[in-house]
Formats: sequence, structure tokens, C-alpha cells
Amino acid sequence: MALMRSRADRDFLTPLRDGANTVSLEIDGRVVSVPDGTSVIRAADEAGIHVPKLCATDSLEPFGSCRLCLVEVEGQRGYPASCTTPVRAGMKVRTESPALARLRRGVMELYISDHPLDCLTCSANGNCELQDMAGAVGLREVRYQPGANHLHAEKDQSNPYFTFDPSKCIVCSRCVRACEEIQGTYALTIDGRGFSSVISPGQNEPFSTSECVSCGACVQACPTATLMEKSVIELGQAEHSVVTTCGYCGVGCSFRAEMKGDFVSRMVPNPNGQANHGHSCVKGRFAWGYATHPDRITHPMIRKSIDQPWREVPWHEAIDYAASELKRVQEKHGRGAVGAITSSRCTNEETFLVQKLVRAAFGNNNVDTCARVCHSPTGYGLKTAFGTSATTQDFESVMHADVIMVIGANVTEGHPVFAAQMKRRLREGAKLIVADPRVTEIVRLPHIAASYHLQLKPGTNVALINALAHVVVTEGLTDEAFVAARCDPREFDAWKKFVSDERNSPDAVEKITGVAADKIRAAARMYASAPNAAIYYGLGVTEHSQGSTMVLGIANLAMATGNIGRPGVGVNPLRGQNNVQGSCDMGSFPHEFSGYRHISDPIVRATFDAAWGVRVDPEPGLRIPNMFDAALEGSFKGLYVEGEDVAQSEPGGEHVANALRAMECVIVQDLFMNETAKFAHVFLPGSSFLEKNGTFTNSERRISMVRKVTAPLAGKEDWQITCDLAEALGYPMKYSHPSEIMDEIAHLTPTFSGVSYAKLDRLGSVQWPCNDHAPEGTPTMHVGEFVRGKGRFTITEYIPTDERTNSEYPLLLTTGRILSQYNVGTQTRRTLNGAMHSEDLLEIHPNDAELRGIRDGDWLQVRARRGETRLRALLTERVQPGIVYTTFHHPESRTNDLMSEHSDWATNCPEYKVTAVQVMPHGSPAGKSEIDHESETADIDHLVMMANDIGAYFAAYPTHEEAVGGIENHLRNFWELRMRREIIDYVARGGDELKSIVREAVLALPSVPIDESEDVGEG
Ligand code: SF4
Ligand code: SF4
Ligand code: SF4
Ligand code: FES
Repeated sequence: MALMRSRADRDFLTPLRDGANTVSLEIDGRVVSVPDGTSVIRAADEAGIHVPKLCATDSLEPFGSCRLCLVEVEGQRGYPASCTTPVRAGMKVRTESPALARLRRGVMELYISDHPLDCLTCSANGNCELQDMAGAVGLREVRYQPGANHLHAEKDQSNPYFTFDPSKCIVCSRCVRACEEIQGTYALTIDGRGFSSVISPGQNEPFSTSECVSCGACVQACPTATLMEKSVIELGQAEHSVVTTCGYCGVGCSFRAEMKGDFVSRMVPNPNGQANHGHSCVKGRFAWGYATHPDRITHPMIRKSIDQPWREVPWHEAIDYAASELKRVQEKHGRGAVGAITSSRCTNEETFLVQKLVRAAFGNNNVDTCARVCHSPTGYGLKTAFGTSATTQDFESVMHADVIMVIGANVTEGHPVFAAQMKRRLREGAKLIVADPRVTEIVRLPHIAASYHLQLKPGTNVALINALAHVVVTEGLTDEAFVAARCDPREFDAWKKFVSDERNSPDAVEKITGVAADKIRAAARMYASAPNAAIYYGLGVTEHSQGSTMVLGIANLAMATGNIGRPGVGVNPLRGQNNVQGSCDMGSFPHEFSGYRHISDPIVRATFDAAWGVRVDPEPGLRIPNMFDAALEGSFKGLYVEGEDVAQSEPGGEHVANALRAMECVIVQDLFMNETAKFAHVFLPGSSFLEKNGTFTNSERRISMVRKVTAPLAGKEDWQITCDLAEALGYPMKYSHPSEIMDEIAHLTPTFSGVSYAKLDRLGSVQWPCNDHAPEGTPTMHVGEFVRGKGRFTITEYIPTDERTNSEYPLLLTTGRILSQYNVGTQTRRTLNGAMHSEDLLEIHPNDAELRGIRDGDWLQVRARRGETRLRALLTERVQPGIVYTTFHHPESRTNDLMSEHSDWATNCPEYKVTAVQVMPHGSPAGKSEIDHESETADIDHLVMMANDIGAYFAAYPTHEEAVGGIENHLRNFWELRMRREIIDYVARGGDELKSIVREAVLALPSVPIDESEDVGEG
């Protein structure tokens, strides 16, 4: 039997109106009271009177196209559509009459006469609104003879996840409106008029090449089988469902996992989800297939050394071996020689258990989390300024913002569902300021244009925030009353003096950031003058050597302008992974217990000692980079890594690989054989988010339930594996369900003391702090008073990063992410999303490309001080000259090999966003290292010799012409590396003399053998 809409998913037909006044009217003789502005159809529905409809649904503004919801209104001529008719006081409405029944049947008859009558075999059978409405209006027969119709319209199957079958379309426009109103992409239109109207993605093109971003909103909105998930076509309509939380990003969307037997047939965004309100992105909606990918490891494995093959063993043997190795290492090298790394992909409960394992069973504090490499500066900065390491707002707050400043966050790619909400607010008229080195999508979209795009140079955030503050302070735009009441006055005065200094003026900072002083001034005025101004930021703020300074700078600016402590304002870090906030909350940093209490605090420690029956070491443990350094020094020998691929995600790939190689016992708990597992001795197969119970905490501090949908493929949920390991180490941790772990978290963590699974089941989710003061959670923090008492201003001196460009590394590489992929791609690459972004590309400005003879699609060698890799070129003006950009979703791109050793001064968060590089067309794999970088001159003979060397390599080019072109490009690069900047510029200007030398060199080559069978692309 098909799944019925649950009461919780009830469709109220038109959106809720929160009119201040209540209006009473009569519908079919019943008196109904609803808020002003409510539609008649919604008022009727709330009174239990169901009016037939097709084009109305409560997630979209009413459209009035299907003419099925007609009603009679006393004193009014005709039959108005009840979805577009607002209630009026004293109105008398009839929803049933012989005339209405006749009209509705007539409308349905027209629809059905142009609809394939294949209900029994249709994938929507049992879950189709057209089918339901035909029944509701009592349609028994269609009188029309077959005539012109759309029954043979061609099906578009180009989207990997859903089909579009125009033969079933009733042109209700729900899909078009969903794409506009919910997603804000405007990919769909109605082409033609009247009978000829058809839904069209883009300019009559297939979905796959249109602007569509596969969010699924149109599929969700479609009342027929026209837009339909391929998984449902394959498996059939669901039989039961479980509400759970997306395992991808920090938006934390709620989904109903619909099941056919033991298989997920589709993930439907939950209309009651408090983070997503029924919306989704391509990852959460469609890319869950990795959970059953054949690459999943489903048996525990061990090996004595990383040179040996893996051996599958029973669970108990793997656990016993892991425990005995950890014990052996500790006996041989000391208690501090082992540690653990948790992941933001893990649940709160799993993370809590890993840090408990380390502190109670390992007997040290060597635990860290991958948040170290992303948002640790947020934790430090916001704790210092406000007293809490978390966002100040909920997502809904953005709907009250008048000015939105987005700093270092590519919201539409990284946090797509929240971005859709932000875009709605921007379309309503809120102003936008973007500070980003790159032209991100949000800068210009349909109906949205940033008022100011502060396109700063990577690494100059702090200079920019100081200049914005300079304008605020020197132009008297501070909120003195707020600061006087809420902040420390001495620190504020000192900060004012500091930012007022000429070195922080927009004119001085223009030279550092590259942003025009006038633009800085205008943006600062816009932010400071708005009734409500909010800052949203991402890794473009934190992953810098001054990441913590920048977070402090943002906090300073928000406090100085009074933009804290109410809806519409605040400092909003956007967390990348699903549980970054939670993994930090749970005490997985080496110096903190859950709830951000320092390990050295004897009172806090005593509560953990008492609860866990141990004496927790008062000394903070090792951070991730310290663990690797200690491994290379020989003092750190054993590591338990749950859910994190450190060999791929940490900077300095070779350094990390050597450190892992130096360890005696590496235990990896994961879904797949990842890069880190190549250095492991024990592999414990983990469970996907669909296979376990627990909670995630999203970017807005919202704790949501993760519910088990299918049995763990390897037989155990991750928390059970950690418990087994603890028991084998002689420290039993007994829980029968993760709810008991949450009870322990609540008992030991003041900000979580009111959290329980029973409450989460009842409320759907809660935002911490959730305790006696706020039993149902805290959407907005620091209302009336900062958690730390007085808000703290901090001096944020701009100190340029040590990662500088020079003639050898003249470009700055910065990194980011793309919508369809997630993190290092372990999951998304094992879904059809892989085809949407099959490789990481290097974005380069056309001027920089021309200088180097680079064409779109060329293979490039990207060389930094610490390493090199190759990527394909994408020429685009999204990046400025001098800046290149790439993503890091594919391990073969080895982007992390390029990253410098620089990190945030306070937290060691790596400086992923600024790396000086050189970029050139890719040549001989050996050629580059043979170059003498010290040489300032080059002679033509040497050039010809080099050309000869690479000539053999370029034999792979299919035509002589292309080979010559490629070699010519190479020679330019050799010139560039060996000669002074003037010569490079000379080449770029197309100086004939130099060009002719290059040509001569090419002509001096022996004839290049051509082998057409070689793949040019791989050259
Ligand atoms: S595709 Fe579906 S939602 Fe869109 S107009 Fe056709 S029937 Fe309506
Ligand atoms: S999937 Fe999303 S982006 Fe694509 S057409 Fe539908 S609503 Fe628009
Ligand atoms: S926005 Fe994030 S949480 Fe929501 S569906 Fe997409 S990946 Fe999942
Ligand atoms: S539901 Fe009102 S016109 Fe379609």
C-alpha cells in the first residue's frame, strides 16, 4: 500500500499568514476564525472542509490556474477560486453546490482527456493528486473524443535523479513556482500559451544542461508523475518512513526517509523540519546511494604492518587486536603515546564517547576533531568575545535582516538550503554586502545583486574588517547606548582608539586588500546604518593564519553597531559538515570538556571524575598537528580515527603520510577504504547516517534526531564499536541505546541539561542552551546580556601572512567547495553527483592564462613551496588576476599537498585559503625539478635542449600542430621560471622577437612522432 501523507505533513494549501487581526467568516454554515490575509481554501481546510484543488500547496504562493477550487460567495457574482481569494469578515462561502460540482467535473474532464490513462502502471499510483481529485469530484467518464493532445511528448531523462514526462503535465506551474519561490534558481518557465503551454527548463533544453541545480523542489511540488524520482520509478511507492537528519552539511535538513522494504526509495524534505522547512539540496535529497555502494567495507580487518595485505576477521578479534596494540604502545612509549581524532560527520553521542574513551580509558587528553581544520577559530573567537563558541542566531533570523554581510562563505554552494532562505530575504529587499576574493554566485543572481562586492586579496580579511570598523568609529556610527549597557567600556575605548588609527583607514587598507576605499566606506555605512544587520561567514574567514583575529574583528564590528541579541542581526558562522558544531560541543578538543569547559578547571574535572570513576589528566592533550609532529619525533605511536580521512583532509599530505607511517598502531573506523586507511593496522567498518541512532547539531545550534532507517551493513553502529573498544581496554562503557549517552551528556553539560530524546521527539529539535532557563532551547543568544557578562572588544592588528607571492610563486591559490560535492568527496563521488563535478578544476583569470599560454581545459602543473599537483584549467573572470581557485573534492587532485604549513595563531587551523603558487601548462613529469631556479639567464641552446627533452613527452599530442603549440607553451614557462618578470611580460605582450626565438626552438626539434591512440587529455 502506498504511503499516505501523515498528519504531520498535512498540506494547508496556501501559506500561513500571520495577520495581526483575526477574521471570522462562515463556510458551509460553520463559523471559522483565521488570521487576516488567509485564503478561503485554507480557512476551509482548517475547519475540516476539503475543497478540491490542484495548483495550490502551502509551500507556494497561490496561483489560481487549475480552477478546481471554485466556491460560491454570498453577494458575489461568479465562482471565485478559493486559493486566491482572501477571507473577509462576515463572508459567507459555499464549497459545495450542484453548479460547483458540475464545473469541477468539467475541469477534471479536460485534464483527464489529455492525460495518459495508465494509472495502474504509473509510478505515482496511490500518491497522485490528479488521481485523488478525479475521485474527489466524482469523475466517472470522459466525454471528449481523442483530439489534439500531449500524450506522445518526449520524456526528459537527462537529470540523473528524476525524470520529466510532459505527457503527464497539467501545467499547474507548481514546479515553476517552486523553482522561483523556494529555490530561487528560476530554471523553469512555461513556454507557449493556452493548449500549447509546456514546462521548459531553460531555452527548451534538457534539465541536465539547464540552470537546474537538482534541488528537487519542483519534483516535490509536482502533483502528478510528471516530475518523478527515478528511485521511485525503480522501487515503487514507499511503504513506511522514518524522519531523520541529513548527513551532509551544517544546515541540518530534516528528511523523511521513505522505505520500500529495506531500501530507501527516496528522501523527502520534511515540511516540519525547523532548519529546512521542506526544502533540500541535491546532496541530501538524492545523494544517499553511497550508503549501499559496493565499496563499503563490511568486515573488520587487521594487519601487522601496512605492507601486508588486510585480513578479514570477526569483530571480537579486530577489537581485541586494536586494544592489545594500544596497550602495547602505551606500555612501550608511555600513556601519552596514543590518541584519537573524531569527525564532524559523527553524531554527538559518538563524538562524546570517543573523547570519553581517550580521557577515561587512554588516560590522556590527546583527542581532537576535524573542526580543528575548519572552525576552531570560530570557537576561540566567539568564546572570547561573547562567552559562547557558537552562532548567535537561528536561520529564521535572516528573514528579519535588513542588511546581510556575507564574508568568506560561498553560501549557495556550501549551505544551499539556508542560501535559498537568504535569497528569499534578499528578493524581499534586504541589502547584500559580499566580502570574497572570488565572484561567488550570490553576488549576482536572478533578482539579486550585491550592493557591494568587496573583492579582497586572500589573506587580507583582518585589514578589511579593521577598515570597516574605522569608518564606523570615525563617522560616529557606533551604537554607544548598546556598548555602554552591554560591553566592557575600557576595552571598547582601547579598540576605538586602535581602529581609528590612520593605518586602519580605508585609504591605507585599499593598498593591502585591493578594495577601493570608497567601497569600504559605503559598505561600512550600509552595515552600520541598517536597523538589523547580520554577518554570515564561512571558512574564508577561519582558515587563515589570522582566522581567530578575523572572528574577533567580526564580533567587534557587530557589538560596536549593536547588532547582537535580537532576530535579524548577529554573528553567524556557517558550519561546513553536518556536525561541526556538535563535535566541538561534545568536548573533542584536547583542552575542553563538553560545553567548552577547560580541562584544567578542578570543579568541572571533579564532576567528570565522579561520573566516569577515573582521574582525568588536568593537562591538555595534543592537537592534530602536534600528534603528527610527535609521531615524526617518535613519541606518538597509536591513533584511533573515527570518520575522518586525515591523510586527505589535513594540509601537507606528505608530512601527514610520513607521520602516519611512523605510527605502530593506526585504527581507522570508516565506511570506505580511505587514504588514511592505507596507513592503518586495524579497519573497523562504520555505519552511515542511515544505519544509526543519535543526534547532529547544525550551524544554528539545533540538535536534531538521526534515526536508524536500515540495519548497519557491518552489524554495528559506530557508538557500539567505541564501547567495545573501551571494554577491551578494560574500561567498560555500557549503554543500551544512544539516548542513554545523551542523558549522560545532559547530566555533565550545563548547556545540554534539558536535552533528552523524549524532548527531541516531542519538539522535533531544540537549540542549545537547553536547560532550566530555556527548557525549549534558545533561538537567539546574548539577549539582554552576553553569556560572558560584558562583551569583550579585542585589538585586531592586521599581520600579513608569511605565505607571500614572489617571482617564483606569483599567484595566490584559494580554495572552496561546489554544490554537488561534499568535503573530500568520499560520499558524493560514490553517487551520481560524481558526474556533476567529475574533477577539481583550477579557475584562472584569462589574463593570467594568456600570460602562460594556457587554454580552457589545458592540464596545468600547480606548484607551491610545499608540493605540486596538476589540475585542468577553467578560464574565468570569477577570479581576479593574480588569484587562482580550486575545489578539493577529488583525492587525485591532491590539493592539500600544496598547502603551506601556516596556521591560525590561536588554534592551529591550517591556512587553506592562501597558498602562493606557480601555474603552467603541464609538461614533462620530470622536467620541472630539473630546472635551476637560481639562474637568471637562459640561452637559446639550453632552451632548445629543454625543448628536445620535452619533445618526446609531447609525442602524445595527436597532431604536429598541437604538439608545437604545447611545446611553445612549455618553453614560455621555462623562460618564465628562469628569467626576470620583464621577459614574461614581454612574452605576454606578444613581442615578436621572443616569439620567433621560441618558434626557432620548436623548429629545431626532431620531427615529433605522432601516436593517435594516446589520450591527449591525460597528457
Ligand atoms: S511538471 Fe508537475 S508541477 Fe510542473 S506544471 Fe506539470 S504537473 Fe504541474
Ligand atoms: S530541481 Fe530545483 S533547481 Fe532544478 S528545476 Fe527543479 S526546483 Fe529548479
Ligand atoms: S543543505 Fe545540507 S543538510 Fe540540507 S540537504 Fe543539502 S547537504 Fe543536506
Ligand atoms: S487550487 Fe485554486 S485554482 Fe488551483
